[in-house]
Amino acid sequence: MTKDQLKYVKPSEKEWLHIWGEKSNVVEKRLFTEEDGLPITVVLQNFPSQKKVVSDEGYKLHSHGALEIGYVIKGHSKIQFEGIGDIAVNPETIFCTPAGMRHALIEAMEETLIILYYYPPYTKPEGLVEETTNLPDTKTEFLIIRPDDREWIHAWGTKTNVAEKRYLTKEDGFPLSFLLRHIPAQKAVVSTEGYKLHSHPALEIGFMIRGGIRVYAEGLGEHEFLEGMIVRNPAGTKHAAIESMSDTMIAVVNIPPFGRTPAIVDKPGAPEEG
Ligand SMILES: [Fe+2]
Ligand SMILES: [Fe+2]
Repeated sequence: MTKDQLKYVKPSEKEWLHIWGEKSNVVEKRLFTEEDGLPITVVLQNFPSQKKVVSDEGYKLHSHGALEIGYVIKGHSKIQFEGIGDIAVNPETIFCTPAGMRHALIEAMEETLIILYYYPPYTKPEGLVEETTNLPDTKTEFLIIRPDDREWIHAWGTKTNVAEKRYLTKEDGFPLSFLLRHIPAQKAVVSTEGYKLHSHPALEIGFMIRGGIRVYAEGLGEHEFLEGMIVRNPAGTKHAAIESMSDTMIAVVNIPPFGRTPAIVDKPGAPEEG
């Protein structure tokens, strides 16, 4: 399989790694790494509920030689960002940590699951992350976005009932866009007024937060995209959601980034924005 092909990674294909010492008990799954040929690295991190995550044998304040964008899938925690303070993060909070800014998750009030995207991609060392002075020029500032800061927009026409919340867009000046896509259970997502086979000029990386859909993609045929799976969908690959089996939520990253303007599909079968 080449780096330009559609690729799904199932949860069972990746192991949870202990990365920060026994005391912190934090585990990480490296969903996409540099070897996958993507412009970003994608990592899932799980923090058990604990008062003090930063400890002698645990985690420490650190920085990365990459922009780090984190999206909280579940749980309530507190993250310290140097120069900003201790910030509470909750489900559907997104935080953008510029390269070089020191930070640490200091307390997990509840078990917390976060998906993290690093730009440019890099291979994180196992064990405590080292400080870096070699910073990429990503020209981004610290940013935190709460779920109420963004509205749900109908993205694919009224019949499909698919809605998107666009957290990070081209206008925000980041190298990628981040959106949530909500697809309620429905038999025929592709319908005369709905979604159709299409491709994007942008790379798409989708992580299935919950639920599942049936998808058709050129070269792969029909398949299921289920909870915990991540997909690398290269630019130009034709695809379509066919059926949503249950209430579905997908975290979608596009590179280059999508714009803020919703892709309202008002013509029968019109493709979504590229
Ligand atoms: Fe970090
Ligand atoms: Fe698409």
